[in-house]
Amino acid sequence: MNSLQLDGAGLGLRREHMLPLMAGVPSPIDFFEISPENYLDLGGKRAQDFRWFTERYPVVAHGLSLSIGGPDPLDEDFLLRIKGFMAEHKIRLYTEHLSYCANQGHLYDLLPIPFTEEAVHYVAARIRRTQDILEQPIAIENASYYAASPISDMDELSFIRAVIEEADCWLHLDVNNIYVNSVNHGYDPEQFLLGLPGERIVYGHVAGHDLDGPDLIIDSHGHAVIDPVWRLLEIAYEQFGVFPTLLERDCNIPPLAELVSEVNQIVSIQNQSLIQTLRKSAYRSTSCTHPQSLKPIKPSCLHS
Ligand SMILES: [Fe+2]
Repeated sequence: MNSLQLDGAGLGLRREHMLPLMAGVPSPIDFFEISPENYLDLGGKRAQDFRWFTERYPVVAHGLSLSIGGPDPLDEDFLLRIKGFMAEHKIRLYTEHLSYCANQGHLYDLLPIPFTEEAVHYVAARIRRTQDILEQPIAIENASYYAASPISDMDELSFIRAVIEEADCWLHLDVNNIYVNSVNHGYDPEQFLLGLPGERIVYGHVAGHDLDGPDLIIDSHGHAVIDPVWRLLEIAYEQFGVFPTLLERDCNIPPLAELVSEVNQIVSIQNQSLIQTLRKSAYRSTSCTHPQSLKPIKPSCLHS
């Protein structure tokens, strides 16, 4: 368990599922995530229900509207409200998308920042200011996008790396977004993943999406996670070690049991990866030379 109290597998908290979850949170779920914009001004029964979760489970605030890469001045009043909200509910982590969503008014979409040196300095300064106001590091999520900016003068991977380095922030790794962008923009998702700064990952996302054509994916979070995305998560664990990972589902919401089975899939991949890691280290530290001579390890022992 790290200082953020994030561990294992999580689920994006939906109002539709609050009551069944309050009747008993299924064991694969270790933490929840919310968009603070949806909970900042909550009162009455809804506020009470939300508090039920924050008093019992780690909750991450995953923001939607800060517009960290946007042209408008950083909304510091909003950040002060976020800070108070996090303190009130003992929420230890705030993350945002590496994108923008406002330009003299809300655009109701997450749009890509031009991948330029100038934008690196601009966004990194805004992340640093955000961290100063919140008095803690934040994490930035690699975002999906559909149209690349014509003024970009560097590739997406170099841009993400440069922003995180200059801002000295964490990476909120979304493997589905890598897959979506790899199809929409024609690159190798595995190569992209392996180029990210793994030591900065604080937690991860998996999600499903809509296939709108052979080379167009819409990042809807409206379907089950597909096998190539699960495989990317496996590769991420192999390369960077197991990190806390959360299932996002934002539309076409199924019954809770369906989502729990996907969260269980996260746990299963985490356990497999931990077993492989233990096996490798056992080979290195003992004289045994055959895989079958190693005793099996109970997955339940590994889910810490
Ligand atoms: Fe995400």
